[in-house]
This record gives sequence, C-alpha cells and structure tokens, in this order.
Amino acid sequence: MIIERAYVSAVPSDEDEAEWPWSVPCVRGLLADGLRLTAPVTYLVGENGSGKSTLVEALAEGFGLDSWGGSHDWRYASHRPKSVLGERIRFDAAPRGRHMLGSWRARKGFFLRAETALDALDREGFAPDAVSHGEGFLAAFRGKFLHPGLYVMDEPEAALSFTSCLELLGHLDRLVRSGGQVICATHSPLLTALPGADIVEVGDHGMRRTTWDELALVEHWRRYLADPRSYLRHVLD
Ligand SMILES: Nc1ncnc2c1ncn2[C@@H]1O[C@H](COP(=O)(O)OP(=O)(O)OP(=O)(O)O)[C@@H](O)[C@H]1O
Ligand SMILES: [Mg+2]
Repeated sequence: MIIERAYVSAVPSDEDEAEWPWSVPCVRGLLADGLRLTAPVTYLVGENGSGKSTLVEALAEGFGLDSWGGSHDWRYASHRPKSVLGERIRFDAAPRGRHMLGSWRARKGFFLRAETALDALDREGFAPDAVSHGEGFLAAFRGKFLHPGLYVMDEPEAALSFTSCLELLGHLDRLVRSGGQVICATHSPLLTALPGADIVEVGDHGMRRTTWDELALVEHWRRYLADPRSYLRHVLD
C-alpha cells in the first residue's frame, strides 16, 4: 500500500462552502474526518450523483495524475490546472509508500476515467480507433497495470463484459501483490466482490465503510436476477 489516509484541511477562504465541490456530502466527510484506506483495494460505491467521480478525480489529481485520465507520465505533458479540490488533497503515506509520496518524480500510477478513457488510451499509444471501447480498457490493464503505483478508476465496468470484469480483478490482484494500490468508483457487484477489498459507501451521510453483503446494489441484483418481474412491474405499463 502507498496511501493510508487522504484528507483536506479546510475550505479555502475564497471558496463558497455551499457550492460544489465543497457542498458534496462525501467532500464534507473528507474535510471532517478524511478517508482512511485500510486495504490495497478501495471501492467507492453509491447512487448516481453521490460524489464518487468528484472524489476519485480529486484523489487522482492530488496524487499527481491528470484528472482527464492517463498515466503519471502524462502529467508532464498536460497544462490543465488542478481542480480546487485536487489541489488541496493531502495524503498520509503507508509505511511502504513513503518513498513514492516523498517526491512527485517517484509517483507512478494510472487514472482510468470512463468519459475520457479513449483519449487517454490514444495518448498512451493504445490506438483506440483499431480496438473497441472495452478492448482499449483491456489493453490498458495489460500494458499499464504492471508496476507498483496508485491506480484510480471511475466505473471501469462501463466498458467491460462479465468476462472482462473478471480479467480486471485478476490484474488488480496482481497489482496489489506487487505493492500497488487501487481506488475504484463502481456500481459493479462483480468488482466489489474482490476478497479483502475495502468498500466505502458514499451518499448523503458522507462516507461509511460497509461490506459486500450489506451493499444495496448486491441485494438488488440478487433479487432482479432471481425474478426480473418483481422490479419491472414498477416501471413498465
Ligand atoms: N463540475 C461540476 N460542477 C458543479 N457540480 C458538479 C460538477 N461535477 C459534478 N457535480 C455535481 O456533484 C455531485 C456529485 O457528482 P459526481 O459526478 O461526483 O457523482 P457520481 O457519484 O460520480 O455519480 P455517477 O454514479 O452518476 O457517476 C452531483 O450533484 C453533480 O451534479
Ligand atoms: Mg461518476
């Protein structure tokens, strides 16, 4: 592990705390208590609009990855200023992460952001014109998810089939065995089932740790797969 806690000390004096991103409950949680990372893989789970992307983008930026996605090398090519939140994120290093957090140059990692993934993969030489959306993601996992570093992902399952999601879990497992760390926003019951992963539920309450069995999305999927009609009757005429 590289990071054991992320936090923000205070809302900057020239910022309105009633406005985004400071108004998002999980950002308030980050301000109040920080976010402890207790396992090499942390999933952020929550409803649409709960703040997962706001959080993962800021964490990626805070670490030195470009908020539009790509690997640590891209940081030197991009002139995009950091967001107001990303600029203020601080990290407490895990014992084995001190070297990497100690210097910007030593920081390695990759940010996979669904909306701009194809752009990022193109820059990284994965020629997305020649491959499908999911194939591009798989190429990135195979070619980039190799070295210890911080790997931040925002809903990677959006592009992936069931089998490809399983392949991703294999890559994540290898990554963390080699000293890497993963922070992933997701709606996937498959990805969150990774043994040993930490699951943080993001919502109006802010952030709280939970388990796979307690996740509402897991229960919904169980019931839906067992009997789709029990849900469909509420939305179809
Ligand atoms: N650039 C922005 N400016 C203002 N508000 C924003 C911005 N980006 C997101 N928001 C708002 O912040 C809240 C959290 O959005 P965010 O994209 O982080 O949610 P999310 O949990 O990633 O949702 P989803 O599951 O749909 O991806 C939402 O209310 C959203 O409208
Ligand atoms: Mg999102």
